Amino acid sequence: MTDTAQSAATSYPANDPATRRTVPASSTPLDPQRIEALMAKEWERFTASTPGSAAHHARASEPLPLGVASSFQHWDPHPLAFKAAKGAWLTDVDDRQVLDLSMGFGAMLVGHLNPLVVEYVSKALETGTLFVTPSPTTTDIAERYQSRFHSSRQVRFANSGTEADMYAVKAARAFTGKRGIIKIEGGYHGGYDALSVSVKPEVAEAGPEDAPVPVVPFEVEAGIVHVVPYNDLERLEALLAEYKDEIAAVVMEPVLENIGIVLPDAGYLAGVREGM
Ligand SMILES: Cc1ncc(COP(=O)(O)O)c(C=O)c1O
Repeated sequence: MTDTAQSAATSYPANDPATRRTVPASSTPLDPQRIEALMAKEWERFTASTPGSAAHHARASEPLPLGVASSFQHWDPHPLAFKAAKGAWLTDVDDRQVLDLSMGFGAMLVGHLNPLVVEYVSKALETGTLFVTPSPTTTDIAERYQSRFHSSRQVRFANSGTEADMYAVKAARAFTGKRGIIKIEGGYHGGYDALSVSVKPEVAEAGPEDAPVPVVPFEVEAGIVHVVPYNDLERLEALLAEYKDEIAAVVMEPVLENIGIVLPDAGYLAGVREGM
């Protein structure tokens, strides 16, 4: 290891202990050509073993943009299509059993077709599902949420992450009487305009690494949005100090998933909370 690499490794900040993971003190970069060769081999194997998904993708591309229900599900040469799931296993249209390491981004953590969930959903189908009125069912779930998370906070249910984040931003703006939002550069929060800023900005447009500029896509009417680098309390504090009279909320993924699961440094999340 060179002196520079050694000092970079030893000065790397510690992870938040709550994440129960550690970052290695040093790493050896892989040869990019070797990675390319391995990837080419894997894609060849992928294509050879998934003809059913390829055929499904050709069919799906007629009625659905990109052949998918949400753009992130698309990849080249074709995404896998699944027809069933049980427990931790998915069955694709080529009848392969595939271990589900995503579990609906967490929504299915108790397992696909968990018997208790099946029982309660079946009961609900017998008593009616959509009233669009107050219902003891809604209240029960809100009370369970409070007791489970030892919280007296009130609950408002939403249909998607986009919608929940949109209402959270609107509530913060209405409550504080301020319009500004701070978000983390590279953070993803769905399709609401204010949070569509600097989600995956082009590096050439993103400004300096330690003081990124908001990159607003053409179709987005964002309002007042500032972006800060993740794990950078100093920059956040500076922005809050400069714009304290206009910031309604800081919006962030506690673990930055959108750019590849980046963990918070020790003290970062507590620091953000204190700063607000
Ligand atoms: C952290 C985060 N917030 C919001 C969203 C948007 O959720 P939805 O796709 O349900 O609108 C996502 C979706 O992946 C997310 O990962």
